Amino acid sequence: MWTYHGSFPGPTVLSARDRRTVVTHRNELPVPVVVHLHGGHVPEDSDGYPTDLLYPVGTSDPAGMPGMPGGSNTGTMSDMRGMGMERDTLAHTAIGERDYVYPAGQPVAMLWYHDHRMDFTGAAVWRGLAGFHLVTDEAERRLGLPAGDRDLPLMLADRAFDAAGALKYPAADPSALHTAGMTGKFTRGALGDVILVNGVPWPEHRVSTAKYRLRLLNGSNARVYRLRADMPRGDGHFVQIGSDGGLLDRPQRVDELTIAPGERYDVIIDFTGCAVGDRVTVYNELGTGTTSRIMRFAVTDRVADPAVLPEVLTDSGTPVPAAAVTTRTFRFARRDAGTPHGWMINGHAYSPTEPIARPRLGDTEIWRLVTDLDHPIHLHLNQFRVLSRNGGPPHRTDAGWKDTLYLGAAQTAEIAVRFTDFPGRYVLHCHNLEHEDMSMMATFTTHT
Ligand code: C2O
Ligand code: CU
Repeated sequence: MWTYHGSFPGPTVLSARDRRTVVTHRNELPVPVVVHLHGGHVPEDSDGYPTDLLYPVGTSDPAGMPGMPGGSNTGTMSDMRGMGMERDTLAHTAIGERDYVYPAGQPVAMLWYHDHRMDFTGAAVWRGLAGFHLVTDEAERRLGLPAGDRDLPLMLADRAFDAAGALKYPAADPSALHTAGMTGKFTRGALGDVILVNGVPWPEHRVSTAKYRLRLLNGSNARVYRLRADMPRGDGHFVQIGSDGGLLDRPQRVDELTIAPGERYDVIIDFTGCAVGDRVTVYNELGTGTTSRIMRFAVTDRVADPAVLPEVLTDSGTPVPAAAVTTRTFRFARRDAGTPHGWMINGHAYSPTEPIARPRLGDTEIWRLVTDLDHPIHLHLNQFRVLSRNGGPPHRTDAGWKDTLYLGAAQTAEIAVRFTDFPGRYVLHCHNLEHEDMSMMATFTTHT
């Protein structure tokens, strides 16, 4: 595997809200890396822009290394895009080691960090470059939500393995250095037949008769899950308390939960009605065979848990779509099927140098997202609110601040986003990582 600090998921970073966190990364892998803090409200030089390469320790000639933005003509950008020798002069590159600086000036939330290198994000994340980053504060602690070993960040990720147990990733270029793209049917996304939760296949976790906080992250490259908890007594359901970007104003009951790559749901599951010996299975309604089960909880311990969920969790602020200054439309669609860059936004392949939008800081904009097939759509820099789906109301689980929105085939959604604080270069993209690597990404730049 390729790992952060030797583990998969990588070490969990805990940030206090409004307190600066600095994470130093040292690259001892055979490829350049880029670290993105997904969901983070972060200055552009620490956001992990796809060409902000951190080259391996000891790289003496980055310009000669494949993947150098606009460097020699061995670079992926130049040979794949016909972009010639045009230099990406905005790239913040480094050799060996660098700091990423996170101000954490945002609501409490479960963010995650993962590799984001242009053309090869899918390969890198599949091999293990992903971890949790939690932002917390005193107000959250005062809510009395399940904490300690009853607060479980869970990364769902499917993988495939060969007979020797090695990860199997059907890339056109196994070195993950030269050519983007997948083989055969996997141009629509890499799928595995083994479901890992925090790196363990179909785990069983021992619990007490108490409420637990499950912070669910879909860290899969392309697989979408619909989760349902099967309680032997009572009705299995979740109580959603948070979304990608923070807590909901009020908890809400959800019977099942559709979670697409990049999305997070913060939920409470209640085992207080269980008896010791009960097993609670979490199923994936969208799976078949081995992918229809996720994990299991084994109730092994009787305790008293009188904790009651607060009725109000936070005041997350109401979006004001009426204040929007612009409406932009982004169409996510395949154009040249079968080519390594056939997934596009508004008919364009990803370009680091040509922004698709230039929002002004302080402005609220409405972005209409339109799909051909199903795509989980993700924006960097700011969280958004979902205003509508197909002209109707959003889904119940679209509540709160989101940074990733799952749209099915031939759908439209409108979101409201206010761009704040940091001028610079960011991306929006499909979080199906193979679509992303095959160009379904676009640059936007923010201005004062
Ligand atoms: Cu989780 Cu731009 O990514
Ligand atoms: Cu997609």
